[in-house]
Amino acid sequence: MMTILMMLLLLSSAYGGDEECLVCHGKKASTSQAAFVDVQVLTGSVHAGLECNDCHNCNPTKRHAGVADVLCGKCHLEEAESYSQSPHLEGRQVSLEDVPTCASCHGGHHILEIEDPNSPTNHVNSVGICIRCHEDIHLKEKFEVLPDPQMISAYEHSVHGRALMIDGNLDAPACVDCHGSHSFRPSDDPESPLYKTHIAATCGQCHAEIAAHYEESVHGTALADGILESPTCTNCHGEHDIQQHGDPESKVYAVNIPKTCSDCHTSEKVVTKYGLNPDRIATFKESFHGVAIELGETRVANCASCHGVHDIFSQSDPRSMIYAANIQTTCGQCHDDLPEDFARGQVHTSATDVESGGKFYVRKFYIWFISIIIVAFVIYRVLEYKRRVKRVE
Ligand code: HEC
Ligand code: HEC
Ligand code: HEC
Ligand code: HEC
Ligand code: HEC
Ligand code: HEC
Ligand code: HEC
Ligand code: HEC
Ligand code: HEC
Ligand code: HEC
Ligand code: HEC
Repeated sequence: MMTILMMLLLLSSAYGGDEECLVCHGKKASTSQAAFVDVQVLTGSVHAGLECNDCHNCNPTKRHAGVADVLCGKCHLEEAESYSQSPHLEGRQVSLEDVPTCASCHGGHHILEIEDPNSPTNHVNSVGICIRCHEDIHLKEKFEVLPDPQMISAYEHSVHGRALMIDGNLDAPACVDCHGSHSFRPSDDPESPLYKTHIAATCGQCHAEIAAHYEESVHGTALADGILESPTCTNCHGEHDIQQHGDPESKVYAVNIPKTCSDCHTSEKVVTKYGLNPDRIATFKESFHGVAIELGETRVANCASCHGVHDIFSQSDPRSMIYAANIQTTCGQCHDDLPEDFARGQVHTSATDVESGGKFYVRKFYIWFISIIIVAFVIYRVLEYKRRVKRVE
């Protein structure tokens, strides 16, 4: 009886109509092995208007399977194209379960609008999708290219992660805002939004004004000219571990700035390659400001107070804070009633330079003074020894 009814149905309608499928898939207590499909779920989803075979490609008259090749890309060309270039697709050659698919991130029949608060892929919830896999140590063991789970979880403690996940600040970035939502190319791929020369633009989606200043600076222009050793946002701020600048853990907290700049400005390789002055850090450390900052004093000048932050230029550039005509103003931020040539010879001078003035003479005096004492002491010991020898004779 059942089979006759079905035959009739199949003959009366072209293959693909929903009713045709629901004959078998629409029954909860089906005697066939066909899985139950709740049409209510579909009609409540963003795809309410679609027919079963818009996504599936099942011939109801033949034995069929086919969840593995659901046809999302037929309509969502752009996302499918991006996904086809992602390491996630590549990973399928190793293991199908360990990499995400359209359905494992978005769902199957119950796909909601991205903005829906219940969607697993909305701005806040999408982070949960990524960390489920990327904070799993077993996945790291299987796929060696992946970074350590701690590198990922740092995001949750960063200024961005806390703003989004704890404070509910929807302007803060989720993983996909920096990595893109479907291609996830690794950062060493020149097409990645996180390839070194693209980072400023990626951060600049939200920090536009800062990115514009940076792009004009000596560092920004050097990077644009292909000098990959020049810093971009992440060299000074970190990546997943970015903190608020007033947080002592931040790489740009006043006391930590000299260390952040010195990663490059004391690097033998960088300094010689670009003809930079190698003693900038050492001389700063010797200076009054340097000593004070070493002791945790945040009010004294750090590298950025005199050179700028996102707008650092060469001394010869009139836009530079240390350009001859600007330097008095620069020191004047903190020092009142400056004498004419206050700035001269005060910064980046070693006590070995005559330009450092008082410091130079004090050092000279000490060297002579100590040398004379040592020589006198030696002469004294020699004389005393001779006297003793004589006495014994
Ligand atoms: C005659 C009953 C019948 C009809 C009609 C039918 N199916 Fe099926 N379908 C089955 C059975 C039984 C299975 C399980 C097959 C298997 O596991 O080999 C199945 C499996 C499937 C699967 C794969 C499920 C899985 O877990 O892999 C999909 C998808 C599917 N059907 C969709 C459809 C669509 C779409 C239609 C309408 C175009 C349809 N079916 C019509 C009986 C039917
Ligand atoms: C928007 C695309 C889309 C539409 C429309 C759609 N499906 Fe599916 N279907 C999927 C995806 C994706 C999966 C796999 C879900 C997963 O892996 O969680 C799936 C899974 C299934 C399965 C296997 C379910 C299981 O529990 O194993 C069946 C059977 C099925 N669909 C039948 C249908 C029928 C019948 C219709 C029409 C009434 C339909 N589908 C409409 C995308 C769709
Ligand atoms: C790793 C999880 C993941 C996978 C895999 C994935 N997506 Fe997405 N998708 C997302 C997230 C997260 C968003 C939200 C993007 C955003 O906020 O920028 C999204 C957004 C979308 C959108 C809405 C785009 C828009 O601009 O509004 C569509 C459509 C979409 N995905 C389709 C697909 C298709 C088709 C596939 C498979 C080829 C797929 N997705 C694979 C996570 C995923
Ligand atoms: C037959 C064409 C078609 C197929 C196949 C299809 N979709 Fe869609 N999809 C649409 C349409 C139409 C919309 C609603 C209009 C829109 O927002 O783009 C939509 C909306 C969406 C949205 C919500 C986008 C938003 O802006 O909020 C997501 C996510 C999505 N689809 C994912 C998928 C996934 C995953 C699959 C495969 C399981 C799939 N779609 C299969 C046509 C399709
Ligand atoms: C189901 C588990 C799973 C989910 C969910 C997932 N990933 Fe992945 N991801 C992987 C695996 C496995 C690889 C390694 C694939 C390969 O290279 O062969 C990978 C690779 C990557 C890579 C490239 C890593 C590299 O160094 O080459 C990035 C970036 C990435 N995923 C980001 C994300 C983001 C962002 C999300 C969330 C939107 C996400 N992933 C969701 C499993 C997952
Ligand atoms: C503020 C931007 C930003 C956010 C948000 C962000 N990342 Fe990253 N991520 C980066 C940068 C920059 C790198 C490159 C690090 C490097 O060059 O060593 C990176 C590297 C990675 C890598 C290593 C592969 C690669 O591309 O080098 C993975 C995997 C990854 N991130 C996953 C995630 C996940 C998962 C989240 C969310 C929990 C996330 N990221 C959030 C900026 C971000
Ligand atoms: C050469 C190092 C360096 C580079 C490159 C750099 N920054 Fe900064 N950034 C700093 C320092 C130092 C501070 C702290 C300034 C302060 O204490 O007032 C800072 C502060 C910030 C702040 C918080 C203060 C504010 O003005 O809102 C943001 C946001 C920021 N940077 C974003 C970026 C972005 C985005 C980029 C890339 C376009 C970038 N930075 C490139 C060193 C750098
Ligand atoms: C999707 C938008 C978005 C993107 C992309 C983004 N940020 Fe942010 N960022 C924010 C928001 C919003 C805050 C403020 C969070 C809060 O404190 O509530 C913030 C805060 C910061 C701060 C701390 C500001 C302070 O007051 O000290 C720094 C530094 C920063 N971001 C740097 C970066 C860097 C570097 C990148 C790129 C790798 C980046 N951001 C990418 C939105 C973004
Ligand atoms: C990632 C490495 C890196 C970091 C971090 C870095 N710099 Fe640089 N810096 C460079 C390179 C490379 C150049 C040379 C650019 C060129 O050739 O035009 C440069 C140039 C400069 C110049 C111009 C020098 C000249 O002779 O024209 C100044 C001033 C400067 N940096 C100050 C700073 C300060 C202050 C910091 C910290 C807030 C800092 N830099 C952090 C790599 C770095
Ligand atoms: C109190 C202000 C002040 C502080 C603090 C300071 N600088 Fe300077 N910097 C100057 C002045 C003034 C010059 C130019 C005169 C000179 O070379 O002594 C200069 C020169 C430089 C130059 C060469 C620029 C060029 O165009 O030739 C670099 C590079 C540099 N400083 C890096 C740093 C770094 C890195 C730090 C932190 C460790 C730092 N400076 C701290 C004031 C300062
Ligand atoms: C961000 C604030 C700030 C900036 C900018 C700054 N200083 Fe200072 N400087 C201090 C503080 C605070 C002290 C501690 C003694 C004090 O209060 O006068 C100090 C002390 C000094 C001292 C040793 C004590 C003294 O008064 O003789 C010298 C020399 C000095 N600064 C030179 C300079 C020069 C030259 C510049 C500009 C190139 C400069 N400073 C820029 C904050 C700054």
